[in-house]
Order: sequence, then C-alpha cells, then structure tokens
Amino acid sequence: MPLDYSADEIVVSPYSKLAGIYDDVMSHVDYKQWARYIQKMILKWCPEATRILDISCGTGSLLAKFDSNRYRLFGFDLSYNMVMEAGRKIRALQFPVSLWCGNMKSFRLKNRVDVVVCLYDSINYLLNFEGWSRCFDCVFDSLNDRGVFIFDICTEKNSLKYFRNYVERKNRNQYQYLRASKYNAETNVHTNRFEIAFNSGSQKYVEIHQQYIFPANEVFDFISKSKFKKLYAYDGFTFRSAHKNSLRIHFILKKTGT
Ligand SMILES: C[S@@+](CC[C@H](N)C(=O)[O-])C[C@H]1O[C@@H](n2cnc3c(N)ncnc32)[C@H](O)[C@@H]1O
Repeated sequence: MPLDYSADEIVVSPYSKLAGIYDDVMSHVDYKQWARYIQKMILKWCPEATRILDISCGTGSLLAKFDSNRYRLFGFDLSYNMVMEAGRKIRALQFPVSLWCGNMKSFRLKNRVDVVVCLYDSINYLLNFEGWSRCFDCVFDSLNDRGVFIFDICTEKNSLKYFRNYVERKNRNQYQYLRASKYNAETNVHTNRFEIAFNSGSQKYVEIHQQYIFPANEVFDFISKSKFKKLYAYDGFTFRSAHKNSLRIHFILKKTGT
C-alpha cells in the first residue's frame, strides 16, 4: 500500500527530500565499523596515505568516522541537499572535512589525494560502463602514484535475496516514509521508489532511484582492462576473497604509475 493517496504527489530528484531523513532511515548502518574496516584496508595497502577523498560522501557519515588526526579528509556528492546535511553534521562535530558538490563522472582536483573511496553501492548509480570509465579516469588523475581506489558494489545475489519485492515503512513524528524496491533480472536494474510525506505539510514527495547491478564477472573484466591494478576483491566487510555468493564486494585498486 502506498502512502496516503489524498496527498499531492510531487516527483523530485533523487536525494533531494530523502537527504533530510537519510540519517534516520539509515540509522541501522554502523558507519564506525565501516570506517574502521576501510582504514584497515588503507593501512594494509597504502600505509603512507595522508589524504582521503569520498566521491559519494552522502551526508558525510563515513567521513565523520575516519581518523581526522591521521588523515586530511575531503568529500563531494552529486546531491546538493546531501552535501548540505553533511556540512551540518561536520560543523556540529567540529570535524575538519572539506566538502563540495560534484559528479564522480567528471571531477578534477587541484591537489591529488592518496585514497579515493566510493561506498555503499554509490557506483551502482552509474548505469553503464561508459560512466564507470569516466569515473575511473577522474579517480586515476586525482590519485598520487601508488594511491588506492576503494569502492563497493551490491551484487545480483543481494538484489534477488533481499529486494525482489521489498517494502519498508517508517512512521515518525515528523514524517512518514515508504520504500518499495524492485529488481528486474532481465535489465539488471534495481529500482527504489521512495515516498516521503512530512507531517508539517500536505505534499507527498516521490523519488525514483535506479541502480544498475553489474554482474561481478563483468566488473572484474572491466577492472582488468582499466589503468588500475586490482589488489583485492573482498567479500563484504571481511578480508576474505569475494565469491559467487557475495552480497557486497569491496574492491581495492592501485594506481601503479602514469
Ligand atoms: C546510497 S547513497 C550512499 C551515500 C554515502 N556513501 C553513505 O555511505 O552513506 C548513494 C550516494 O551516491 C550519490 N551519487 C549518485 N550518483 C552520483 C554521482 N554521479 N556523483 C557523485 N555522487 C553520486 C548520491 O547522491 C548519494 O548520496
């Protein structure tokens, strides 16, 4: 059942309205643990790193958990509202992070970094490998030699197991929320429809998010043809190799020289 149909329905761009409630909706995600995992990977594969850039920083939850005494932190995101939320969080925590709005398919840095991260299946928002190529080129140019690119993907197993026809609802004091997920195994497109109604207004906002679920073997093939050297593909949140039943895969690639 959708949220109340009597409300005026307004279709808005991804993360424009979700941004304001994103942290509440994602309160089950343990970003501290995630940041710890990524930092372990960095210490193992790029121990000399001092500068980290998150190219889909969302509301800055992951950046805010990195060790700011050790690393200089930077982040951008396509969604202006997500970056605004990130700014609020970072200021409240008095946490030193530089943030801006940007597109992972077309960005350039004044000063290179040692690590680029793109997590929580953000790269799945790029709907084809042409988009990946543009992203990989930008990341490559933004990294110092021997810098690393860490990203993750959601696998088809995950979409089929949990999101074939998934519905989630929240009824809070300030808002009502519905997420309906569908996975089309013919097109490999995973669609999330978010309906959000703030109790202070009469509108219902609808966001349609589409993510392409790249077959893992095609991702491996794409990486092998890229300028990067693949260091490892980890089964999500572990240091074991990814396998055919992995639900999330964390990749770590190295820039081996220009
Ligand atoms: C699932 S959220 C994850 C956000 C954040 N990484 C986290 O872990 O909470 C996906 C994010 O990818 C961002 N995104 C989608 N396409 C993008 C693009 N082309 N460039 C930069 N960010 C993008 C969205 O705006 C959104 O904030």
